[in-house]
Amino acid sequence: MADQLTRFRELRDKSLLGGGQDQIEKQHERGKHTARERIDLLLDPGTFSELGALAEHTKTDFGMDKKKFPGDGVVTGFGEIAGRPVGVYAQDFTILGGSFSQVQAQKINKIQDLCLQAGIPCIGLNDSGGARVQEGVYSLAAYGEVFVRNVLSSGVIPQISVIMGPCAGGAVYSPALTDFTIMVEGTSYMFLTGPGVVKSVTGEDVSTEELGGSTVHNAQSGVAQFAAPTEDDALELVRQILSYLPQNNTDDPQRYPSDDSPSRMDEELNAIVPADDNQGYSMIEVLERVFDTGSILQVHEQYARNAIVGFARLDGRPVGFVANNPLWMAGVLDIDSSDKISRFVRLCDVYNVPVITFVDCPGYLPGTQQEYGGVIRHGAKIIYAYCEATVPKIVVYTRKAVGGAYVALSSKQMRNDIAFAWPTAQIAVMGPDGAAPLVAGKQIKAAADPEKARAEFVAEYRETFYNPYRAADIGQVDEVIEARETRPRLIQALRVLETKVATSPHKKHGVIPS
Ligand code: HXC
Repeated sequence: MADQLTRFRELRDKSLLGGGQDQIEKQHERGKHTARERIDLLLDPGTFSELGALAEHTKTDFGMDKKKFPGDGVVTGFGEIAGRPVGVYAQDFTILGGSFSQVQAQKINKIQDLCLQAGIPCIGLNDSGGARVQEGVYSLAAYGEVFVRNVLSSGVIPQISVIMGPCAGGAVYSPALTDFTIMVEGTSYMFLTGPGVVKSVTGEDVSTEELGGSTVHNAQSGVAQFAAPTEDDALELVRQILSYLPQNNTDDPQRYPSDDSPSRMDEELNAIVPADDNQGYSMIEVLERVFDTGSILQVHEQYARNAIVGFARLDGRPVGFVANNPLWMAGVLDIDSSDKISRFVRLCDVYNVPVITFVDCPGYLPGTQQEYGGVIRHGAKIIYAYCEATVPKIVVYTRKAVGGAYVALSSKQMRNDIAFAWPTAQIAVMGPDGAAPLVAGKQIKAAADPEKARAEFVAEYRETFYNPYRAADIGQVDEVIEARETRPRLIQALRVLETKVATSPHKKHGVIPS
């Protein structure tokens, strides 16, 4: 008995050391934590419960029988975040570069399966050289086992991927299938093929960072939703994200106590929209003044900055927001912002997070670049997402809601629940400059003073159409409110909508434009 216990303890201690002390030091020299250190930072102290600590691969080719380590390059188990259970797996780069083996996959699959069955979030910390070369097709097949679980879990339990080192080849598709990808700046990268292969195939010289670093995937490709300066920040972000989400799709997000008064008005908001239509203003400031103090977490912050999406709280209730950004391309909708908005609305919808949309948008961006890129099918995704969503949906028109942008961004007919407009709202088919030649071109040309005639038309158009009142006449706007009242109005509306029931026709799934 004593011998058995000793053997077990030796194995367990070996497992705790991963690939060995020298590998741990190398990992630290790279500026990276080990898998176990990361798990300790992620979870509530003392809550980690490991599974599969002693599992080893069974392969013998290429001397692999002499390269065995308990755990086989991934640490897996359960723990708690803010007192709520989660499943976690962390690839261990100190063991064979965290390379992905059949046994590693089985350990990850076990956690994925248990998370799905228990209805709890699943978090993956990625740091791996990809498919373990010595395992050949076993390793490739094992990726499929992870992907299928990612897909079956999608929309059922929150899945978050943190990239904390290499993530190359087909390995990138697991994070891409999860709800959120967080990248650590400077030490993480994702690409299908590395700089060497790129050079040999296309002749292009590109560094690892330029090809797949955090900035590329946050600001350009949109593959990642978050960038974190350090590993500690990345892990803290996971905790923050989960605070806005329920444990699973049958649950509601947790409400937190708020010391920001639900009846607080904000006088500054009444003056935030400039008199000049063409002048921008900070939509982030609007959001900060409306939502609970300090509660905003932007998602995809660096990507398609003409749109702003993210989570916040209203009287302690988590909400998702979508807003146009008048300070970036005048807040116009385009291909990338359509992808950003539609994905976020769908994410809120599956996790029962109400969506509040702030509209100041001149329309979809015209031009060949957008048309050739498929702005029609990308733009249609926004419409699809809002129409499909059954969570409470509230829209606030702060200024422009012009043409297609009015319809696409949570308009009444697309199952929006409540529409508020500020007195500065401009809801019309097009702006006065576009309307003038179409509606009164001939009269303006024939007038003794065409400039005066044009100015008179514009003034009349503004008075008649370019305001919130026509929309309010026919119920497209439920209520015109002072901007300062926005917070209490939204909170009252959300209280009513908390018990909203909306159903959609039964179907296997729809065919979202893509
Ligand atoms: C087996 C691997 C490995 C791999 C790394 N190692 N990647 N072993 N299979 N894929 C081992 C190394 O041999 C080394 O072992 C240890 O991990 C650390 O690796 P180093 O190269 O010394 O570290 P570093 O210099 O930091 O470079 C890390 C790296 C590099 C950039 C990730 O190892 C690398 O390029 N690896 C291959 C990446 C790759 O092309 N993967 C296949 C992707 S295709 P020792 O024993 O010396 O310490 C793919 C297909 C999936 O994944 C398809 C799914 C659909």
